[in-house]
Amino acid sequence: METVGIGLLGLGTVGSAVARRLMEQWELLAERAGATPALRCVAVRDVSRSRGFDLKNVRLVGDPQAVVSDPAVSIVVEAMGGIDPATGLIEASLRAGKTVVTANKAVIAASGPRLSALAAEHHAHLYFEASVSAGLPIVALLQGSLLGDRITALDGVINGTTNVILTQMRTPGVSYADALADAQRRGFAEADPSLDVDGWDAVSKLVILSRLAFGVNVTSDAVDRRGIRDVAVADVGALAQLGYRVRLLAHAERAASGAIHLRVRPTAVGPGHLLHAIDDADNAVIISSDLAGTVMLSGVGAGGGSTASAVVSDVVTAVRERAAPMTQPAPLTTPTLLGDEDLEVAGYVRLRLSAEADARALVLQALEDRGLAVDAAVDLTGLELAVFTGVGPRAVHDRALETLDTLTSVDEILGDLDRVEA
Ligand code: NAP
Ligand code: HSE
Repeated sequence: METVGIGLLGLGTVGSAVARRLMEQWELLAERAGATPALRCVAVRDVSRSRGFDLKNVRLVGDPQAVVSDPAVSIVVEAMGGIDPATGLIEASLRAGKTVVTANKAVIAASGPRLSALAAEHHAHLYFEASVSAGLPIVALLQGSLLGDRITALDGVINGTTNVILTQMRTPGVSYADALADAQRRGFAEADPSLDVDGWDAVSKLVILSRLAFGVNVTSDAVDRRGIRDVAVADVGALAQLGYRVRLLAHAERAASGAIHLRVRPTAVGPGHLLHAIDDADNAVIISSDLAGTVMLSGVGAGGGSTASAVVSDVVTAVRERAAPMTQPAPLTTPTLLGDEDLEVAGYVRLRLSAEADARALVLQALEDRGLAVDAAVDLTGLELAVFTGVGPRAVHDRALETLDTLTSVDEILGDLDRVEA
C-alpha cells in the first residue's frame, strides 16, 4: 500500500494525542484512507524533554521549518498554536503544495479565507475541523450537510475552559483560580489562558462558524465580546438557586435584512434551554435553519482525545482526497452589523437596594419607565434583589442600567448578564 508522509508541528496536548493515534492505529487508518498515513517528522521547542511515549522511527526536530521542508512529508499537521510562527509555517507548507491540517482557531479566524485561497492556488488542501469545538464535527456539518439550508442563527458553548470554570463555580468553596488551574491541568486551556477567560478563543471559533454558516467575511472585530473574569461567584450561585446556569454563550444571527450580529458573552441560561445541561468541558452548537429547523451537536469540546479525533479524521480525509482537484473556496460577502437599537436581548441584574423607603418598587418602576419590562424580581439575602429584565433592544438595556446606577434607591449594581430562556 502507498505511504503518505505526515509531519507534525507540536507535541503538546493535541500533538501527542495525534501522534499516538497515527502510530498506534496506522493499520485501521490506512484501511480507511486507502494509503498509509505515516508520521515522519515532529517539531517541538524542547527536543531533550521526554514525551512519555516512544516516537519510534520518527525524526524529532527543534526547527518547525525542517518539518515543512522535509521531502518525506506531504501533509503538515499544525498543532503548535499561536499566530506566529504558525501562520508562516502553514503558508510555506501550502506554497510547497503540501496539504495542511490545523487545530489553530486563532490562525484560521485571522487568515482562513486567504489561506484557503493560497491552498487552492498551489493545488493543496487546508483542513481545520479541530479548530472549533475539537471533536464535534461542526465544520463538516456546515461545509456539507446543511448546504441546502439558509442558516438564521448559531448558539453555542464553544470554549471548554470557561465552561469548566463556570460549572465548578456552582460548587461552594471552589474559586475561579482553582477551577482555571483544573482546566489547565486537564489540557483544555490555551497556552495563554487569558485567550479562554477573556473570550478570544470563543470569538475566533464564532468567526470561523459564521463564515461557514452565513458566507460572510468577518473578523474578530465584528464580535461583541465579554469574557468571564468579572462573573461573580455570587451570581453563578444565585442563578443556580433559581434554576439557571451561567455559560459563556456564543451567538450569531442573521436578520431578515441580511445584517448580522455576533457576540460572546457570559449568559444566564434558563431551565429547559438546550444549552442548560452542557457542563464541564462539554461543548454544544445549535444551528437554526429554514429547512432543517434546529440541529444540535454536543460532546467533549476540548482536550487531547477529542481534538485528535478531529485532526486524525482530517488527516484520513486528506490522504483520501490527495489526488482530488482543489475547489476554490466560496466567495464571502462583507456584511452589515446589526446595531444595538435593533438587537433584542433579555437580561439579569443583581443589585443591592438602599435603605430608602419603597426602594424595591422604585427600581422596578424606573426600569418600566425606561421601556424595559420586568419578567421577574426575586429577593435574595439582605437587601439584594435579582431582576430578570424582559426582551428589549440592547441599547434600552444599557441605558436602563445606567439609570439604575444613578438612583438613590440603588446602593450598588453587583452583577449583570444576558439571559436566554428555552
Ligand atoms: P500545547 O500543549 O501548548 O502544545 C504546543 C506544542 O507546540 C508543544 O509541543 C510545543 O513544544 C510546540 N511548539 C510551540 N511553539 C513551537 C515552536 N516555535 N517551535 C517548535 N515547537 C513549538 O498546546 P495544545 O493544547 O496542544 O494546542 C495546540 C493547538 O491546538 C492550539 O492552536 C490550540 O488552540 C489548538 N487546540 C487545542 C485544544 C485543546 O483542548 N488543548 C483543542 C482544540 C484546538 P514543547 O512541547 O517543546 O513546548
Ligand atoms: N482552549 C480551548 C477550550 C481548547 O478550552 O475550549 C479547545 O478549542
